[in-house]
Amino acid sequence: MRWQVVNLKPLPCLRRGEFINPASLSNATEDRLLVITVDGPAAAGKSTVARALARRLGFRYLDTGALYRAVTWKALEAGVDMTDARQLTAVAQRARIELKPDSQGLRVLCDGCDVTREIRTPEVTQNIYHVADEPPVRKVLIEQQRQFSRRHDLVAEGRDQGTEVFPDAEVKFYLDASVEERARRRLSDLVESGKDASLEEVTCEITERDARDRSRPMGALRKASGAVVLDSTDMTAEEVVELMVREIEGRGVLPCRS
Ligand code: C5P
Repeated sequence: MRWQVVNLKPLPCLRRGEFINPASLSNATEDRLLVITVDGPAAAGKSTVARALARRLGFRYLDTGALYRAVTWKALEAGVDMTDARQLTAVAQRARIELKPDSQGLRVLCDGCDVTREIRTPEVTQNIYHVADEPPVRKVLIEQQRQFSRRHDLVAEGRDQGTEVFPDAEVKFYLDASVEERARRRLSDLVESGKDASLEEVTCEITERDARDRSRPMGALRKASGAVVLDSTDMTAEEVVELMVREIEGRGVLPCRS
């Protein structure tokens, strides 16, 4: 049985005197399958929601943060100079990162090694900005993200999915929540996994990461044009997913079986 796309992608609207730049039509749109993007700040619940949404739709979940984390882990392991953009780019180009869905969620492999847990350590989180701030590294990882979209229908989660990686995605979401609520959620995840931290420390870490994520020269966190903004502060993950499904169904972009 084959999936059939019911909606053809519209060409961008042109105003008088504007021309289509062929470069803007390649990359992102060429050959890709369906893409739903979920962007937003740290600990807004993006991963939980994007994973559940992907399961609901029968799409693949693309955790782009895991790619940045895996490159950071690899660079730290290799002992490269974290301030040297050329070395970091070489690591990104060489690393073979695989995202494998399994019953536990998503396993992350880097050069065949399971690094699912290792990429979530505080050391990796504190060093990600070296990798994420470098445009040449981002270009390598953006290409990998677009490769995924040529093989699978995707729910792509990150910071720049609707703005830079898939600006023509079928539906874009921007998931937000108050800093207090995000810190509370992050703390409860940490406590659950047996780690020790205070609410003040977690709030500080999230606020710093937000500031960095919003100010980098390429791939800065911002609401994509046309994105549906959802504030999950007073909502459960299930409620957010329900809203997203309704929005997606309302747009008529879902495939139908032939
Ligand atoms: O989503 P997660 O918290 O795992 O992302 C870790 C970091 O990776 C973010 O704080 C951000 O600096 C970087 N990142 C990014 N672009 C993405 C996804 C993550 O710069 N698309």
